[in-house]
Amino acid sequence: MKLPHHLTIKKGHLHINGHDCVDLAEKYGTPLYITSEDRICEQFRNYQNALSSRYPKNQVLFAAKANGNLAVLRALAQLGAGADIFSSGELCLALDAGMPADKLLFNGSSKTPDDLQLAVKSDVIVSVDSLDELYQLDAVAKAAGKTVKIAFRVNPALKIPTHPKIATGLASSKFGIPHKEIPTAYKKALTCKYVKPIGLHCHIGSQILDVELFAQAAEVMVRIAKELTTIGVNLEFIDLGGGLGIPYHHDTDFAPTPEDYAAKIVPIFKEGIEACGITPELWVEPGRSLVADSTVLLTRINSTKSAHKQFANVDAGFNLLIRPAMYDAYHEVIVANKADKSPTTTYTVTGPICESGDILAIDRQLPKIAAGDLIAVLDAGAYGFAMSSQYNSRPRCPEVIIKGSLVGLMRRGETIEDLTINMTRPPWQQ
Ligand code: LLP
Repeated sequence: MKLPHHLTIKKGHLHINGHDCVDLAEKYGTPLYITSEDRICEQFRNYQNALSSRYPKNQVLFAAKANGNLAVLRALAQLGAGADIFSSGELCLALDAGMPADKLLFNGSSKTPDDLQLAVKSDVIVSVDSLDELYQLDAVAKAAGKTVKIAFRVNPALKIPTHPKIATGLASSKFGIPHKEIPTAYKKALTCKYVKPIGLHCHIGSQILDVELFAQAAEVMVRIAKELTTIGVNLEFIDLGGGLGIPYHHDTDFAPTPEDYAAKIVPIFKEGIEACGITPELWVEPGRSLVADSTVLLTRINSTKSAHKQFANVDAGFNLLIRPAMYDAYHEVIVANKADKSPTTTYTVTGPICESGDILAIDRQLPKIAAGDLIAVLDAGAYGFAMSSQYNSRPRCPEVIIKGSLVGLMRRGETIEDLTINMTRPPWQQ
């Protein structure tokens, strides 16, 4: 199987940036999320270089929902990242990590009054998703005696051939304002006293492997930018969103790189803004393509069973990685302590959760395995731990991060006591 360069096999063991997964499992236990900070930083620089070499006025915002660990956010903040934030929690994490407020775009189609208040108080930019939200935000800013900078989220109504649960730019999607109504929305915003429209935003979906779709979205966006310029909106940025996919099937998928992505979209962006006579910043919001391949989820086999199929029952399930169960997503798996052995047997890797759908990998060719062996689930850095739960009352596992020769815990594992930490006795049970 093809591996990214930070994953190597030495003496039969899978290594991440030179660190032996088998040793890490001994030291920290399993299940265990292991992340390479070096890889995340490398990929962030790939984005920066790809954009800057073509259009220096750019800003990469990390989609914080993909991986909300502060250590990850901090590493990216130090390289100059901003963030696409989707909740008050993500807003606070991004600020805590050292990202400046003017590099944070507060997205979301259903913000609460508290979200809007925090956005105004924190001076972040808000991507407004409806006219109702626009007027609410104007009132909140008025009450705070402030002006809030905004963009509108455009629904470009494209056909997006990705999993329907992660396509967002379809006409029927819950996100954004239909593209034809966008000029009217800006006209209305221009009449609001406490709102200043400075940006234009879209995000068409996730795990997109064809850059042509980003080109189509960019074309819609510059066309709208032209209309907005004529009605007097001074666009300081145009945000084309995230969505670049990764090759989850290592040997057969082709995924464009940040370089391929930039080579496709920047010329359309530049030509479009030149036609408007403006020079806004170009913003992008990658999540998955920045962090997914930085991380493996290491899980130990509790037992094997030969029944209808050969099952490998492991200690991580959809409580820790829900993508296979939720999106039928494919993640490569490697036997981390037998990584040099030839595959001989077809296994289905199943988790410990009381659900038939708790399957991490179906019908994979692996070497003969037994209880105690370690399975590494690859490409688990995006929407992995971030979507974990305590379902079946299972404490979440620890996360470690690697930087060069150093390894450090970035989240301790939860304990059984943590399961009840927020539970309270109702008065009649005292
Ligand atoms: N910007 C906005 C406004 C978004 O909603 C998202 C993702 C992104 C950027 C980043 O997209 P990315 O570059 O990561 O594709 N849980 C699903 C993915 C949900 C994506 C939600 N929005 C999964 O595991 O595939």
